[in-house]
Amino acid sequence: MKTFSIIGCGAVGRTLGRLFHESGVLELKDVLTRSEATARAAVAFIGGGRPAAGFAQLGPADLYLITCSDDAIAPCVRELCASGALGAQALVCHVSGALGSEVLHPATQLGALVASVHPVKSFADPAAAVGDFAGTWCGVEGDRRAAEQMGELFESIGARVFSIDPRFKAIYHAGSVLACNCLTALLEVSVTAYGKGGLDRETALQVMEPLVRGTVENVFRSGTVAALTGPIARGDAAVVGRQLRALDAWDPEVALVYRSLSAVALELSRRRGQAGEEGLESIEALLADTGEDDA
Ligand SMILES: NC(=O)c1ccc[n+]([C@@H]2O[C@H](COP(=O)([O-])OP(=O)(O)OC[C@H]3O[C@@H](n4cnc5c(N)ncnc54)[C@H](OP(=O)(O)O)[C@@H]3O)[C@@H](O)[C@H]2O)c1
Repeated sequence: MKTFSIIGCGAVGRTLGRLFHESGVLELKDVLTRSEATARAAVAFIGGGRPAAGFAQLGPADLYLITCSDDAIAPCVRELCASGALGAQALVCHVSGALGSEVLHPATQLGALVASVHPVKSFADPAAAVGDFAGTWCGVEGDRRAAEQMGELFESIGARVFSIDPRFKAIYHAGSVLACNCLTALLEVSVTAYGKGGLDRETALQVMEPLVRGTVENVFRSGTVAALTGPIARGDAAVVGRQLRALDAWDPEVALVYRSLSAVALELSRRRGQAGEEGLESIEALLADTGEDDA
């Protein structure tokens, strides 16, 4: 059985550590964190491994799983390389979506293979994450052999893996931020707009709920093109024009959000083919007219 050690063992490290340990595909050696106390707690959670008090205590392993916080990955790799534990054929893998595997470059110089596997999942509670990890999508990139081996290892604990183009990893990662964080921010903008119309926050959220849930369900059932409804799907330039004038007068920042996202909706509407081209061209002109030249 291949061996692995974990460097940085918080929410993600504990979850993956326990899953790999319990699956029996890997044997856990060392667990290293900033403080020995958290390393001991991680070992207790995982049910295996040995807490390491520092890089000098790290022993050899076939795989070093680096699950420390993003800003600590580069320093941890440097320390791992300096420790003398890293063997020439070892694998080094981090799990960040924000950073590419190139941050592990110092390990490559010692002959190790490097990869990154990014689980597209929120790991707030490790015990819960262990229970519902199966089916988690994980984006893999790195040295071909390392990426293949890490993909197989993650599949053995239930992950569904896909490849990422390492040149565009930051853009790939922004996809999750847009889908999650920006969606939340957009819903906050909606609450504010309902508020201008006289709805308190609680009522606004209640009114929005069936609309938002229904839209999200339609997107995942039928795709974004088929799910688009509303004035841009119909090519109703008069409605779009009225809304833009009202938003420009009320809050230019909200008008900016409306314009940006409506431009994307316009493209979806063209692909959908329901609205007449004349209406869509009028909408395009309205979206392009920010009124800045009128002054
Ligand atoms: N959380 C998520 O939902 C999620 C999802 C996908 C990917 N990720 C990625 O997973 C990685 C870990 O995230 P996390 O949420 O599990 O972080 P976390 O819960 O904050 O845990 C970070 C761990 O790293 C250790 N650490 C920090 N600096 C260190 C250093 N210099 N040397 C050794 N250990 C160090 C910490 O040690 P102490 O315990 O002693 O402080 C802690 O055990 C990140 O790359 C993140 O981008 C996270």
